[in-house]
Amino acid sequence: LYEMMLTGSDMEIDSLEYVQLEGWIRTNRSNGKLGFIELNDGTYFRNCQLVYKSDLSNFEEVSKYSTGSAISVTGKLKATPDGKQPYEIEVTESKLVGDCDSSYPLQKKRHSFEYMREIAHLRPRANTFYAIFRLRSVLSMAIHEFFQNQGFVYVHTPIITGNDAEGAGETFTVTTREDADYDKDFFGKHAALTVSGQLHVEAFALAFRDVYTFGPTFRAENSNTSRHASEFWMIEPEIAFADLDDDMDLIEDMVKFCIDYVLENASEEMNFFNTMIDKTAIERITKVRDSDFKRMTYTEAVEHLQNADVEFEYPVEWGTDLQSEHERYICEKVIDGPVFLTDYPKDIKAFYMRINDDGKTVAATDLLVPSVGELVGGSQREERYDVLKARMDEMGVEEEGLQWYMDLRRYGGCKHAGFGLGFDRFLMYLTGMQNIRDVQPYARTPRNLHF
Ligand code: 4AD
Ligand code: MG
Repeated sequence: LYEMMLTGSDMEIDSLEYVQLEGWIRTNRSNGKLGFIELNDGTYFRNCQLVYKSDLSNFEEVSKYSTGSAISVTGKLKATPDGKQPYEIEVTESKLVGDCDSSYPLQKKRHSFEYMREIAHLRPRANTFYAIFRLRSVLSMAIHEFFQNQGFVYVHTPIITGNDAEGAGETFTVTTREDADYDKDFFGKHAALTVSGQLHVEAFALAFRDVYTFGPTFRAENSNTSRHASEFWMIEPEIAFADLDDDMDLIEDMVKFCIDYVLENASEEMNFFNTMIDKTAIERITKVRDSDFKRMTYTEAVEHLQNADVEFEYPVEWGTDLQSEHERYICEKVIDGPVFLTDYPKDIKAFYMRINDDGKTVAATDLLVPSVGELVGGSQREERYDVLKARMDEMGVEEEGLQWYMDLRRYGGCKHAGFGLGFDRFLMYLTGMQNIRDVQPYARTPRNLHF
């Protein structure tokens, strides 16, 4: 029905004079003779207007339906060429399915996003979140389509794992007991929630060539920022016989494909964000879709930062990890758009990244975007067994538990690369939403675990 309301096909409407709808009341007002209900039936972003008149047998009852109630109505479709929507429904029968009592928090027009986080079970009914969560679904499909169209194999990497892929020690331990012995609590072994599916998916790239994983990942970093969550979704492709340039091309193609896809398949939602959240959203992402992403080395970025006309909280010198203030300066002030930073010092990156010929930097890239900062982290992987082993020794990464990963370098190894794109940050970037807690259905951060 809503699809039809949108396209406004008269012919089909004629053959469907009477319709039956189930949904939830967003507003209800009546003057004793005539009443209007804004109904949302869940299939479409916009509400449907129901009109009821005093000749309706239960007019009195209908006019008392409260906001939030679930109802079932039958009615006649009427063209309303001058209205906000092409059609409205004149109610001929109405039944209350589920009443909604006066404690319902969404009766008030506006609540702060902070408050909405505390009613995570109700917030999908509010416009902003209704739009976000449908967009989340559309964007997921965009990602699958992008990869599936090119023959990538989708791999389900494990959630429970024996290794800490990034080597940063930011893992949640999985335990079976209250009095946990964390080292052997997964039936005698140490286990953690995955921080990245990368190592596992690399093994599949060396069989299927082009693969991706897309699932939840977990990080125990206790940082209360608007961009970090303890649980978030990550897209991690891995491509064999490919180097860092191929990797960056893939990132750029994917981001552009997804922008195009959401503009096409979630246009109502994107228009909403463009009006209510970020007035530049559509223009901004359209420009990103239509322009080439810039590339800059870490070393060049450091020069820009050292010559910057602003004072940073953290000073920068070659070798230091970039803070979000630095990343944002580069993509907002120097470039004004997405930028790939490449060739980071090896000491601030993970053990598996391929060492460049200079011996000091690695073939890594981060994609930085305005307002969000780091959207993607990727690299070409170290495929040389001896170099990898030496690097692990140097960094104190234990071989035990990673022997299988090193095997991939002994049994038909080849150059390969991949990246991780933070799905929740991508949603923030597309919509202009400022807090990661507001793009996740049930935010999981150190201070948000209401459900
Ligand atoms: O840069 P990261 O840590 O890279 C990896 O995990 C690699 N193993 C990816 C790969 O090469 N396969 O994380 C990748 C992305 C970041 O760029 C960021 O967008 C997101 O994941 N991310 C987070 N998003 C929300 N909350 C957090 N705590 C995040 N940590 C990383
Ligand atoms: Mg990173």
